[in-house]
Amino acid sequence: MKTDALLETAAKAARLAYAPYSNYQVGAALLCADGDVFTGCNVENASYGLTNCAERTAIFSAIAAGRKDFVAMAVVAGGESMPYPCGACRQVLSEFCHGEFSVYIAKADALEDYEVVCLAALLPQQFKLTD
Ligand code: THU
Repeated sequence: MKTDALLETAAKAARLAYAPYSNYQVGAALLCADGDVFTGCNVENASYGLTNCAERTAIFSAIAAGRKDFVAMAVVAGGESMPYPCGACRQVLSEFCHGEFSVYIAKADALEDYEVVCLAALLPQQFKLTD
């Protein structure tokens, strides 16, 4: 899938966000090596700490479908700033993805102005139990 289509898919996923507390809608689209795409949105909770980010929703959905062959992710959100993945999502990505894994990031109203950054740059020296 091309980058613009992956970003569009993430933007569509963001529209499904359950975000009544922050009103901040995030969508993620996770691309597998064979072209399959798993999407996710943020899912908030009245007990705020139980909220799940869009990126982790997409990863967990893919893992639950038996997939681990990830090559890229697009993340799209409304709002003023670029939706760089939070630290928790970076760590979860690092569990399954190599440093060269590409993350495409864009604001919902300007998908064409996306940024691309690799996981190694987003999370150098990730936590590992063993080498
Ligand atoms: N959020 C994400 O979905 N991804 C991130 O990487 C950071 C934050 C969501 C969680 C919450 O629903 C809202 O954005 C505000 O923090």
